[in-house]
Amino acid sequence: MEQSSQQPLVSLRGIMKAFPGVLANNNIDLDIFPGEIHALLGENGAGKSTLMKILYGFYRADDGRIWVDGKETRIKSPADARQLNIGMVFQVLNLIPAMSVLENIALFLKDLPGLYNPAQIRKRIFEQSRLYGLEVNPDDMVAHLSIGVQQKVEILKLLLSDAKILILDEPTRVLAPHEVESLFEVLRKLRQNGYAIILITHKLKEVMECTDRITVLRAGRVAGTILCSEANHEKLVQLMFDKQLTAQIEREDLPRALDPVLELVSFSTHGEGTEVSLKNIALKIFPGEIVGVAGVSGNGQKELCDAILGIEKVAGGRKLLKAQDFTHSTTRKMRDFGLGFVPENPLTMATVPFMSVLENMAVTRTADYSRHGGLTMDWKLVQEDARQSLEKFGFTFSYYLPAKSLSGGNLQRLIIAREMMKDSQLIVASYLTRGLDVQSTLVARQELMRARNEGAGVLLISEDLEELFSLCDRLIVLYEGRIAGEFKPSETDYYQIGYLMTGSQGNHVTTH
Ligand SMILES: Nc1ncnc2c1ncn2[C@@H]1O[C@H](COP(=O)(O)OP(=O)(O)O)[C@@H](O)[C@H]1O
Ligand SMILES: [Mg+2]
Repeated sequence: MEQSSQQPLVSLRGIMKAFPGVLANNNIDLDIFPGEIHALLGENGAGKSTLMKILYGFYRADDGRIWVDGKETRIKSPADARQLNIGMVFQVLNLIPAMSVLENIALFLKDLPGLYNPAQIRKRIFEQSRLYGLEVNPDDMVAHLSIGVQQKVEILKLLLSDAKILILDEPTRVLAPHEVESLFEVLRKLRQNGYAIILITHKLKEVMECTDRITVLRAGRVAGTILCSEANHEKLVQLMFDKQLTAQIEREDLPRALDPVLELVSFSTHGEGTEVSLKNIALKIFPGEIVGVAGVSGNGQKELCDAILGIEKVAGGRKLLKAQDFTHSTTRKMRDFGLGFVPENPLTMATVPFMSVLENMAVTRTADYSRHGGLTMDWKLVQEDARQSLEKFGFTFSYYLPAKSLSGGNLQRLIIAREMMKDSQLIVASYLTRGLDVQSTLVARQELMRARNEGAGVLLISEDLEELFSLCDRLIVLYEGRIAGEFKPSETDYYQIGYLMTGSQGNHVTTH
C-alpha cells in the first residue's frame, strides 16, 4: 500500500457527536484509503458504531467535516451515503426474511430501473459472487439462510449497488471460526480490487490477522492509528485502555476429586415448541474443573441450563449432585445445595426489574440475610457484601436504582457479582461475558477461575471459542441437543470444534 502518494477515499475531520450524558465522538479524524482494510478497534462504548453511522448518514454529526474522493460533502441520510458509494452492514442484519435473496438485493439497487429486470440482476449476482467467493442462491428465501450466508447477501447487496467503501460493524460476532476465515478471504479479494473496507471489531486477533491499518478509539477519541505490521497485542491493549491490563488468570493444578459435583446420566428432555430436546446427555463435572459447552446458540444450551437448574422437566435419565439424586428437585433445593447461576438473559431470568440493585443482590439468598425470624433483612450486610463484590468490577452506579434501568453490560456485572459473591459448589454460567467490555470480561473470567481454584465445578456455556479454550479444563460440543464431541482444549483446535458446532464431521484440512 502506498498511502502517502494516494488521495484518501474518505477523510473525516473533527467529528463530534454527543448523546444525552455521553460524548460518543470527540473530535475524531480518520482517513480511509482505497485498497485497504482498516480496523476500527475499541472496547464497547468507545464510539465506533456512532462514527460509522455518521459516515453512513444514519446520524448527523454535531460538528466536523467529511470529504469523499477529495470533495467536501454533507451526508444527511443513508441515501446520500449510497450515492457516494458508501455502504454499511450493520451489527443487526437488515434483510427482509420473507423475500428471496434476489428480491432483497434488487430492492437495494441504486438504479433500480423503472422496469425491474430479474434476469439481469441474477446475472450480476452470479458474476459478483463468483468473483469474491460469496456463494448464494438468488432464489433462496432469506428466512431460511444461516447468519453467515445472510451476511454474504448483505455484502453482495452493497457490491451490486456500487459501494466502494464498505463498512462492516462487528461482522464476526455471529460467525463460526471457518465462516470468519471465509469472510476474511472475501475481504482480502475485495481489497485487491481497490475497495476500501472498514472493519469494526473489538477482537485483537482478527485485527492482527486481516487488516492493514488500525485506528483505536477510546472513550470517543482516537487513541492512535498504526500500521498492522507495526502493531502487536501489547501496543493495541495499551491504546485501547491507556493502561496495562493486569489480569493474568492463574489456573491451579488441583487433585481430581473422587465424586463429580454434577453428573448427568442418560439425561433427556422433551423440547416443546421451539425448544430443543436434550438427547441422552452423559456429563460429569468434577470439583475444581471448568467444563465448557461450545455450540451455536439454539442447540440445547438453554435447555441444558434449565434442566440442571430444575426449571425444565426431565424426560429420562438422572441428575446427581455429589452422588445424591436431584433429578426432580426444585431450583430452590439446588440453590440450597450451593448453585450459582449466570443466565442467558439476566433481566428476565435473574433479576426483579423493579427492585433496586441492592435488593437484587439479596434476592437469591434471603435466608443468609434475614434477621428476627425473617421479619427484617440485614441490609447493612447486604450492602457490605454488594460493595465488596461490585468493587471488583469497578462499579459506579447507585445501589438504589431499579435493576431495569441498568444497561445490559451493567446488569451482567450485577449478576456475576451476585452469583460469585459467596462460595458455590456448582456454577452454571451462560454467555458469562456477553455485553461486557474487555476490562470487565477479564474480571469475570478471573472470578470464574478463582471459584474453580477454590473447588467449585463450573459449566461454562459460550460462543466465544477463545474464552472456552483459555478457561476450560474440558470442552464439550453441543449440536442439536446431543454431545457431538468431548475434548481437552490442548488436544483439539478451533476448526475441529467449529466444524462440530455446525454439524459437520470435521474432515477438513487444518490450516494452521
Ligand atoms: N442512539 C444512542 N442514544 C444514546 N446514546 C448512544 C446512542 N448510540 C450510542 N450511544 C452511546 O454512545 C457511546 C458510544 O457508543 P457506540 O458508538 O455504540 O460504541 P461502540 O460501537 O464502540 O461500542 C456509548 O456510551 C453509547 O451508550
Ligand atoms: Mg458498536
